[in-house]
This record gives sequence, C-alpha cells and structure tokens, in this order.
Amino acid sequence: MSNQTTAATTLPACKPDLTPAPPQLIPGLEGVPIAESSVSFVDGQAGKLEYRGINVERLAEQSTFEETSYLLLTGKLPTKMQLDEFNGQLSTHRRLKYRIADLLKCLPETGHPMDALQTGIAAIGMFYPQRQYVAPEDRRLACVRLIAKMPTLVAAFERLRKGDEHIVPRDDLSHAANFFYMLTGEEPDRQKARILDVCMILHADHTMNASTFAGRVVGSTLADPYCVVSSALGALSGPLHGGANEDTIQLFNRIGSAKNARAVVEEMVTRKEKIPGCGHRIYKTVDPRAKILKVYAEQLTRASGNCHYEIALEVEKVVHEHYADKGIWPNVDFFSGIVYAELGIPPVCFTPIFAMGRVSGWLSHWLEQLVNNRIFRPTQRYVGGHDQPYIPITGR
Ligand code: COA
Repeated sequence: MSNQTTAATTLPACKPDLTPAPPQLIPGLEGVPIAESSVSFVDGQAGKLEYRGINVERLAEQSTFEETSYLLLTGKLPTKMQLDEFNGQLSTHRRLKYRIADLLKCLPETGHPMDALQTGIAAIGMFYPQRQYVAPEDRRLACVRLIAKMPTLVAAFERLRKGDEHIVPRDDLSHAANFFYMLTGEEPDRQKARILDVCMILHADHTMNASTFAGRVVGSTLADPYCVVSSALGALSGPLHGGANEDTIQLFNRIGSAKNARAVVEEMVTRKEKIPGCGHRIYKTVDPRAKILKVYAEQLTRASGNCHYEIALEVEKVVHEHYADKGIWPNVDFFSGIVYAELGIPPVCFTPIFAMGRVSGWLSHWLEQLVNNRIFRPTQRYVGGHDQPYIPITGR
C-alpha cells in the first residue's frame, strides 16, 4: 500500500490517453481474413484452385456438377449410393410452384435475368416460412431446393420474357442437360451438356469473394437460406464480379474482328478503362479456370467459325503487353462468355449461369458460417462532424 502511494506521488501528473487508436481502414478488406474456411483454397501466385482440397482441374476432368456440389456441401466425395440419392433429390426439387411462374410472368421483360433470379429466390423462400434452420436435415433440404430450382428460374424467365411458355423440368436429365432442355425445349447432345456441366463446376466456389461474403454476412444474422442466396445474387450481378462475363462478350462484339482488337484495347488503355474479364484481386497469374475455358472456347469456335476466340487472343496479347507487370491476366469471365455464346446461351443469361454454379459454394459457406456463428458487425472510421446545430427549415 505504502509502495503504491510512493509510486503515485512520483509519477508525472498527466493521465494516460486511453482513447483507442482509430482502427486501420483496409479498403475492400483486401487481405483481411473474415472466417476460417475449409470449403475452397486459392493460390493466386501459382494459379491453383482447390475445392475441399481437390484440384479444380481434376474435378473438371472427372467430376460432375452434382458430385462437386455434394463435395462442397459435405466436405467429402459421395459414395455411389450417396450420389444417386443426392441426384434423385435434386431432380425431385426442380419444379417451380405455379405461383412463382406467375410471378415471373409479371416481371418486366426488359428486366435483367439476374434481378428476376434474385426476386424468384426471395419469393420461393416465402413458401417455406421457417424461421430457424437448426436441424441438419432442414439445412440440407434447403440447399437441395435452392440448387435444384436455380436453373428452372433462369430458363423460365428467359422464355417468358420472350413470350414463350415455361418448360417444366424433366427428372431424367442431368442438372446441365435439363437446363438446356428447359431453355430451348430440346435435349442437348452429350458434348454440349458436358461443357455446361464443367462450366458450373468451375464456378461452384472461389473462397471469400464479394458474393460469398455477402451471403455469409446475411447468414450470420440467422436469416433464412433464401435470403442468403438472394443477397449473394445481388452482389454477383455487379460488373466488377459476375457481371464481367457479359461485358466481355460485348467488348468482343464491339471489336468485331481480330484485326481491330489492338486499336480498341489500346484506346481503352489510354483512357484507363478496365478491360472486362481481366485482372483479379487474388490471381496474379492466369486464372486456372480461364485455362480450361480457353480450350473449350477454341474447340467450339473452330467448329462454328465464329471469330470471338481470335479476338480474345488478340485482346489477351495486348493486355499482356500493357499489364503483365501489374499481374493482370484473363480471369474466369474472359473465356466463359465465348463458351456460353457457342452453346447458344444469350448474353443476359451468362451471369445467371455463373450463379447456377456458385449457389453450391454460397450454401457450403452458409453451412460453415452457422457452425461457430457470430454476427458480422465491423466498425468504421467516422469522418463526419459532431454537435452540429439543428437549424429550423425556415432558417436554412
Ligand atoms: N483492366 C485494366 N486495368 C486493370 C484491370 C483491368 N481489367 N483490373 C485492374 N486494373 C488495374 C487498375 O486500374 C489499377 O491500376 P492502378 O494501380 O494504376 O490504379 C490496378 O490494376 C489495381 O486494380 P484494382 O481495381 O484496384 O484491383 P482490385 O483487386 O480491386 O480489382 C477486379 C480486381 C477484378 C475488380 C479488377 O481487376 C477489375 O475490375 N476487373 C475487370 C472486371 C472483371 O473482370 N471482374 C471479374 C473478376 S472474376
């Protein structure tokens, strides 16, 4: 006691400043981990992507979208029996309630299919007004329903906005083949269905990107999984994220032929415009998904004679000359649009197809978020004023 008194009398008279240092602001949360996750892994320097530890290139060669979704959701590859059961559940839940089809009919045909998809998913949630998703079986069923119904919503809105009838899904086709059937009324050949299947595998997850983070934030409030997916869809629709695939094909169309590519891209470089489909927050080398899609783009355009691929190669070359030292390379959206266009898919459906794949990743992150959930509540650096006077309207 006497020691404390002595110390107090000998210390300088000023009080320590206990005001916490203002938090460091990290724009775009670049490099800030927001969760521990075992869903997927990216090595941006080596250009490597893994789902649950399995290289995405192996999955693109050997797996199906359905099996990859099971892997993402559960953490394990299914046995034959488990996969058959999962496939059966997915095909059982493909149909839309007639009131959802009616809702889609009421949406403006000028609206973007991503907005229709977001609306449709939020509306589907109203048919399952369960507030709490505690039981694993409830969570699993919601995941199955959401994955199963996304292609039906996309195909239905695309047909209805053109004045065609909505085609009821078939349960004897794969996820990818059934999408083509619902979009066109025709069963696709095996190659076409397989390419779309691979595209959905490649889009199924990609660590903590903007839409996945948006979904996790909403999931952390214990909102239902339909809200989780609809908010992730909103984030994906932006041109800096999923919307880039549509912008990329528009750029190729504007360029028109390979000989014009250099002039157009160099003008964009001079104007400091971003080249859609290039650059990535994580990859500082070629995106491994772009490598796979490039092969399909070449195969498909060689068969059709379309010049999109030649244009893309020229754009890639000019981007490389100007931006390789900044680590700007083609990303997944650079070649995916060419592939989709060759499959006969209209550009407005490119981002919805990305979403049809990514929904499995969003839901896997939702399940993971719920395990040790804590609501997201970051902070801010306040830069506004204080104690301002309220001036009555007549005095302003
Ligand atoms: N074309 C030209 N320059 C680009 C570019 C592109 N596609 N992407 C990034 N850059 C440049 C920026 O202008 C910036 O240059 P500066 O440092 O001289 O100002 C630098 O590279 C860093 O870009 P920034 O936007 O800050 O990087 P980011 O990590 O925040 O952004 C993307 C990543 C994906 C948003 C960005 O690369 C982009 O907008 N790409 C085009 C859209 C796209 O394809 N999105 C799909 C992603 S899968």
